[in-house]
Amino acid sequence: MTNEGVDKSKRQFLTTALTVVGAVGTGYLAVPFLSQMQPSAKAMAAGAPVEVDISKIEPGQLIRVAWRGKPVWILSRTPEVLANLETDTAKLADPNSQESEQPENSQNSVRSIKPEIFVAVGLCTHLGCSPTFRPEIAPADLGQDWKGGFFCPCHGSGFDLAGRVYRGVPAPTNLVIPPYRYITDTLIIVGEEIVEAVA
Ligand code: FES
Repeated sequence: MTNEGVDKSKRQFLTTALTVVGAVGTGYLAVPFLSQMQPSAKAMAAGAPVEVDISKIEPGQLIRVAWRGKPVWILSRTPEVLANLETDTAKLADPNSQESEQPENSQNSVRSIKPEIFVAVGLCTHLGCSPTFRPEIAPADLGQDWKGGFFCPCHGSGFDLAGRVYRGVPAPTNLVIPPYRYITDTLIIVGEEIVEAVA
């Protein structure tokens, strides 16, 4: 083998190695940091509570975790979003969530322990599709009255950013709020009975 041949094969090896490292690195970055905090698959299947670090959620951002095989959303609501929740409540089927499922600590107008952090089971209360997150104001496909919310593509049910269902759609009740509580200011546990609420 000539020196040139050795150098070429070395270069090829290095290129291949870097490509693999790059792919692993990209894959690692693509995995949400939350996955590192999940219990084992067996524990999750059994319904183990799920700890979620919310310290890195940006205002307006929605993150997803799995609990008991269901998607759970954690949304960071901005002051603008919270203000919009107070308007047009006449268009909601159950604005005060009297017929809807949520733990005691979320029985308030914003359906959450802390107003800025919204936690909900991401399944439509009609037939269980997972609604899409549509935070835009008045997008062309949802109309001028849309103030941001969740839209179920299966049969067109709409929910506001407190998971409250609009009137006249197939979904009968608001999105379900799972049991959850704060362990610290930036760590919540989903699926555990409420011990105490943090103000
Ligand atoms: S499942 Fe969502 S509207 Fe039917």
